[in-house]
Amino acid sequence: MIFYFSGTGNTRWVARQLSKYTQDNLYFIPEELERAPHTYTLKENEPIAFVFPVYAWGPPKIVMQFIKQLNIANSKNAYTYAVCTCGDDMGRTRQILAKELKKKDWQLDALFYLNMPDCYISLPGFDVDKPEERMQKLEQAPHIVAHIAKVLQQRPKRHYEEKPGPLPRIKSYVLRPLFNRLLMSDRLFHATNDCIGCKKCSKVCPVHNITMYAQKPQWNGNCTGCLACYHNCPKKAVQYGKRTKGKGQYLHDNYVNTNE
Ligand SMILES: Cc1cc2nc3c(=O)[nH]c(=O)nc-3n(C[C@H](O)[C@H](O)[C@H](O)COP(=O)(O)O)c2cc1C
Repeated sequence: MIFYFSGTGNTRWVARQLSKYTQDNLYFIPEELERAPHTYTLKENEPIAFVFPVYAWGPPKIVMQFIKQLNIANSKNAYTYAVCTCGDDMGRTRQILAKELKKKDWQLDALFYLNMPDCYISLPGFDVDKPEERMQKLEQAPHIVAHIAKVLQQRPKRHYEEKPGPLPRIKSYVLRPLFNRLLMSDRLFHATNDCIGCKKCSKVCPVHNITMYAQKPQWNGNCTGCLACYHNCPKKAVQYGKRTKGKGQYLHDNYVNTNE
């Protein structure tokens, strides 16, 4: 049972590759959140997996919110693991996730990470990766997924392959709450005059947070911060304040719009 989230396609690709190895079913968290109640039944020996991008040195809010509501029958002592994608480093993501899982009596048995192309562009100094770095990460990714699948066959306990990076505590416990409070709001999203009213941003939003008003997108306050709207805009007309002006766009080659 693989629960996953993805905005620009990196993590969906990872989750799909992993499910090819493990034969476990995939569940896209935003779709699952639309269906209530969030109750599932594990088959014998089936693991529980969470696959998600790192947002501000922790799991995205939507993933935490989903876990809080999640009920899985037969899950006592189930093997539980996570795979994170990140552009650079992940701080104390493992500890934040493990604490939430513990409330459900689940141990985080293993965690892995993959460095994937960076999609974060909303602060000064942050931009998508240069083509060489992007290519290098994408070339390595299939090998890392194969490695993860191989390790998982052994079901190791307390097996953590992670990249906390420098100052992980400060990033995850000081900067992360600030980031979530001040920088995850959709207030600064707007469409410039280049907008052609194609509705693409609205169609790709995984949480249906964007509606069209007078042929322009309007963000409605329930944003996950995934930036799918920004990266999918064919005219680069979606901007976040003035901070995204002149920044690049990125979508994984196998990006699919799950809303279509
Ligand atoms: C809001 C936001 C915050 C992010 N924070 C981090 C971070 O703390 N560390 C990091 O290495 N990458 C960070 N990233 C980059 C993503 O984790 C990375 O590009 C990921 O692979 C995107 O996955 P997706 O394509 O499945 O959406 C962030 C991206 C976004 C949109």
